[in-house]
Amino acid sequence: MRTQVAIIGAGPAGLMLAHLLHLRGVESIIIEARSREYVEGRVRAGVLEQGTVDLLNETGLGERMRREGLLHHGIELGFSGKRHRIDMKELTGNAITVYGQHEVVKDLIQARIVAGREIIFEAEDVSIHGLDGSTPIVRYKKGGDAHELQCDYIAGCDGSHGVCRPSVPAGVLTTYERDYPFGWLGVLADAAPSQGELVYMNHERGFALFSMRSPSVTRLYLQCSPAEDINNWSDDRIWDELLLRLRGDDRWQPNVGRILQKGITAMRSCVTEPMQFGRLLLAGDAAHIVPPTGAKGMNLAIADVRILAKALLEYYTSGSAVLLDRYSQICLRHIWKVQRFSWWMTSMLHQFPDASPFDKRRQIAELDYVTTSLTAARSLAENYVGLPIESNDLL
Ligand code: FAD
Ligand code: PHB
Repeated sequence: MRTQVAIIGAGPAGLMLAHLLHLRGVESIIIEARSREYVEGRVRAGVLEQGTVDLLNETGLGERMRREGLLHHGIELGFSGKRHRIDMKELTGNAITVYGQHEVVKDLIQARIVAGREIIFEAEDVSIHGLDGSTPIVRYKKGGDAHELQCDYIAGCDGSHGVCRPSVPAGVLTTYERDYPFGWLGVLADAAPSQGELVYMNHERGFALFSMRSPSVTRLYLQCSPAEDINNWSDDRIWDELLLRLRGDDRWQPNVGRILQKGITAMRSCVTEPMQFGRLLLAGDAAHIVPPTGAKGMNLAIADVRILAKALLEYYTSGSAVLLDRYSQICLRHIWKVQRFSWWMTSMLHQFPDASPFDKRRQIAELDYVTTSLTAARSLAENYVGLPIESNDLL
């Protein structure tokens, strides 16, 4: 088999790249380790930046999102028992849309099927070869049979535990990382959201987040130990802790309902540089991870492939690899700003086990500042709704 671009991974990055290439006549094949049901059911991100929403609309994928997505003009930050609203619309002119990542994934898979293009699900033993030559190869097995796919480029969109990044020879890539001494316990609850906007709560027992997925489903998170065992958290214990942390002086609290799903996620910041080696181009979580406090991971994955698609299209239309050669550099400039914001939100909102009384007071002062200074609030809002890619970088 042969294609122009072999895409490893059918997450938001791989699927959106395939879609953007298809719209401009570039062929690709997606190779995914999991089943379609698995990737369509994987509950993760929920917040779409304006730029991500615009891209979905511009590329014909926005119909269901416009109907089912929830447009939010603000978020709330809570501390010392009180919640404070950041009006993103007023501060930046932009907003965010709450629409589950797995809904975006479903829409992208549907578009791929309608286009009659291939996604190979449940591929086993995926490996990539010949990255420093002109015809790289992907090998995989499907139903016991071995297959080989030749291509011009491989897009490594296979997330943080994929095969692409580890296939680059030792010494070429550098990874910059920071671990956090906590994780998030996340639940989906069969309960109508008790208010219309997200609440990020700094509480002395640990961070908590109130979010939602639809008019009848609430999404909630609790800061927990990174090694926490989910079996230690009965549904009752989860609700007790959520209510303790989220309930404010005004007695507002989330509606309690049946827990539909629960899981624990570790928190990490990491960036791999450069994001390319020969004919391999890394995108999304395969190249970088942000802690979810800024709601940036999926948006960053989409931003990468937007740049990558532009660079590949330039290559296929004019034969020039100038933009492809600068792919990593263009992405990294944006990624580091988003890393900074995600780290900053995480640091401001969580309890750190080694924090001194000074650190705790400084943290509250920071929250007090961003919720009372218009200048500081605008900076938060500008980052939260999404920083643009520097347009000069794309010339
Ligand atoms: P993935 O979604 O990880 O996709 C990679 C794909 O590659 C997967 O389908 C995987 O099965 C496949 N794969 C892996 N290995 C192989 C292999 N060897 N061969 C073939 N296929 C392979 N981001 C936001 O923007 N906003 C949010 O609100 C937000 N909240 C989050 C909350 C939580 C709890 C978590 C965990 C994450 C959150 N994120 C958020 C981050 C976001 O979910 C990720 O950044 C996003 O999934 C990255 O997309 P991706 O396509 O790069 O990688
Ligand atoms: C979510 O709804 O899953 C969500 C919202 C905001 C975040 C992270 C996750 O910062």
